[in-house]
Amino acid sequence: MDKLVDSGKTKQLFQTKDKNVLKVHYTNHTTAGDGKRNEQIENKGAVNNQISSLIFQYLNKFDIPNHFIEQTSNTDQLNKKVNMIPLEVVVRNLSSGHFQKRFGTNNLQQLSKPVVEFFMKNDELHDPMVNDLDVQALNIANEHQLSKMRDLALKINIALINLFKEINITLVDFKVEFGIDESNHIILADEISPDSCRLIDTDTKESLDKDVFRKNEGNMMKGYYKVLHKLQKELA
Ligand SMILES: Nc1ncnc2c1ncn2[C@@H]1O[C@H](COP(=O)(O)OP(=O)(O)O)[C@@H](O)[C@H]1O
Ligand SMILES: [Mg+2]
Repeated sequence: MDKLVDSGKTKQLFQTKDKNVLKVHYTNHTTAGDGKRNEQIENKGAVNNQISSLIFQYLNKFDIPNHFIEQTSNTDQLNKKVNMIPLEVVVRNLSSGHFQKRFGTNNLQQLSKPVVEFFMKNDELHDPMVNDLDVQALNIANEHQLSKMRDLALKINIALINLFKEINITLVDFKVEFGIDESNHIILADEISPDSCRLIDTDTKESLDKDVFRKNEGNMMKGYYKVLHKLQKELA
């Protein structure tokens, strides 16, 4: 049995023979409302593992450094072990969620420019929004690292917008997390999946992501499968 080294709300991290490599197991666990709702959703782990694997491989083509090594089963992948920077980096193209609440914009209003926002990853504090000076004052990251994360986030955004456009899906917003690898470089880590992106069918405006669960609008997996099958076809 592999040794469990860390686990969070949706993934379990296991040690491998190589100290710089983790086996990451994607679970069916699904949370919403700041962890108030907790459910197991059949096949979610497998679908997200496959979507995330496809997206990380796609990002490699654009020289976006990331932790992905290989997918080893339906639910598992090998990732480079990094020191996580405890920030959630959010990129927005259309107004939704917290942005919409904060500014009273219309839902899915196109923004004139993509926005990058940083949130401290801290469940007890409900992931407070932080600015560059907060991040530096709290020693979470330095100015250079912040600018690197912002640049990478915007680069990922362009690559993902283009990918999803090909399969008639609009990328509303997404969250990424970064880590520092053994050469002290900032690389993309964690996951990119419908748990961490807002994706809508460009024609029907149907949500293809966790918003369906958040809003209790029925079978969330229908959209997840649609995203997976379209990506498989596009990236085959
Ligand atoms: N390459 C990596 N190396 C080390 N830790 C990682 C890596 N990728 C993701 N993690 C961390 O794995 C943990 C488990 O992930 P997850 O279940 O999504 O946690 P959370 O509940 O914080 O969202 C998180 O703390 C995440 O930051
Ligand atoms: Mg997570």
